[in-house]
Amino acid sequence: MPVQIIVGAQWGDEGKGKIVDMLAGDADIVARYQGGANAGHTVCIGDRQFVLHLLPSGIFHPHICCVIGNGVVIDPSALLGEIAQLQAAGFNVGGRLFISHNAHLIMPYHKLLDVIREQTTNKIGTTGRGIGPAYIDKATRNGIRIVDLLDRDVLARKITANLEEKNQILTKVYGETKIDVDAIIAEYEAFDKKIDEYITDTALYLNKALADGKRIIAEGAQGALLDVDHGTYPYVTSSNPTSGGACTGLGIPPTAVSDIVGIVKAYCTRVGNGPFPTELLDATGERLRTIGQEFGATTGRPRRCGWFDAVALRYSAMINGITRIAITKLDVLDTFEEIKICVGYEVKGKRLKSFPTDLATLERITPVFESFPGWKEPISSVRSYADLPSNARRYVEALGGLTGTSVWLVSVGARRDQTVTCS
Ligand code: GDP
Ligand code: IMO
Ligand code: MG
Repeated sequence: MPVQIIVGAQWGDEGKGKIVDMLAGDADIVARYQGGANAGHTVCIGDRQFVLHLLPSGIFHPHICCVIGNGVVIDPSALLGEIAQLQAAGFNVGGRLFISHNAHLIMPYHKLLDVIREQTTNKIGTTGRGIGPAYIDKATRNGIRIVDLLDRDVLARKITANLEEKNQILTKVYGETKIDVDAIIAEYEAFDKKIDEYITDTALYLNKALADGKRIIAEGAQGALLDVDHGTYPYVTSSNPTSGGACTGLGIPPTAVSDIVGIVKAYCTRVGNGPFPTELLDATGERLRTIGQEFGATTGRPRRCGWFDAVALRYSAMINGITRIAITKLDVLDTFEEIKICVGYEVKGKRLKSFPTDLATLERITPVFESFPGWKEPISSVRSYADLPSNARRYVEALGGLTGTSVWLVSVGARRDQTVTCS
């Protein structure tokens, strides 16, 4: 197992944090490959709960080295806050955290522009963490990278050049006040002193680790249906959470990847706007939200809830090349009399052959559901597949069968040990 990619297979919040933390016990390195502090990955250690936004979810294992790859956009204040929080809780990151010198920085104007655009034109329902504007600057080659922190002159020149343009946009397009150049330069110069020790050529580091036979987990953020290329555009994030993003976001070759694990919630959730074919706007949706505690780990927003969508997951499995899936939060369905799975999409009575990614079609879809009987008993203390109630096994097997995937793990609770291996 040289590189195992852990990818969110739906709209994010599938439980990637829990599964990565659990699998990290048998790995050497965990590396985040895209996104930024828009992610919120929850890890429960005993009765303590931690939400990670930038640090890889392997950080709680003292033997694990953690990499934040070149594909990630880093908000230094968020990162330093997270490091401080973990250190206060007794988890030291010194000597085992490596941040790519090529990763782009999130600047205060990215966050400001993200929030302003959401209020004016772009109602995507973003997390407001500056993700889109930071990736815009990366693509237009105006971005400021971690490596730029190391040279005071370069940093000051780049911030000044960026603010000349951004201040025009802020004042003339949006009627906002100007951002003070010197204050930002001073703020980011101060970050350098604190981040310096972690800055690394992480592509080199990871490729050396591969040559030494180390086991690497590549941790995705968000989910395949939020992918800027393959998701429900424009209601997506601005990076590539799909498995291909792991190679570009870390600088590792596709030939090093041996396993692509799709993390799949036993039902569906989505935060923010955009199409959601199986969404339940009724009491059943409310029940999923209440029992599943479906509130954003980053923004606290209520997550939209719905039945499992096998059509979307088949598509996700195809795009990601998923080799096996881990089904999370099966225990949330414990009390349901009837559980449904969307097995097909119809538009005007005609069955679609594949998942449409154009908005117009997605918005006109009627989902076709198949019904399954619930198991009506608690499963969170079950530890072996054979001990799951027969209706729970039937549901798990239907999820595998209908999506053309092989089920590897089933999660029955938020803690590491609340996991059942199926195959
Ligand atoms: P991520 O972004 O994919 O890492 O997922 P989040 O952390 O945003 O959301 C998943 C939520 O479900 C977190 O609160 C987890 O603690 C919780 N969770 C993960 N797996 C399970 C499970 O099997 N059962 C239950 N009840 N909760 C789970
Ligand atoms: P994790 O890693 C769920 C959603 C936002 C919004 C869209 C664009 O915890 O699964 P952005 O701030 O990225 O520009 O917002 O993407 N979104 C997520 N939804 N989980 C996430 O991360 C998300 N990160 C972004 O709600 O709809
Ligand atoms: Mg999350």
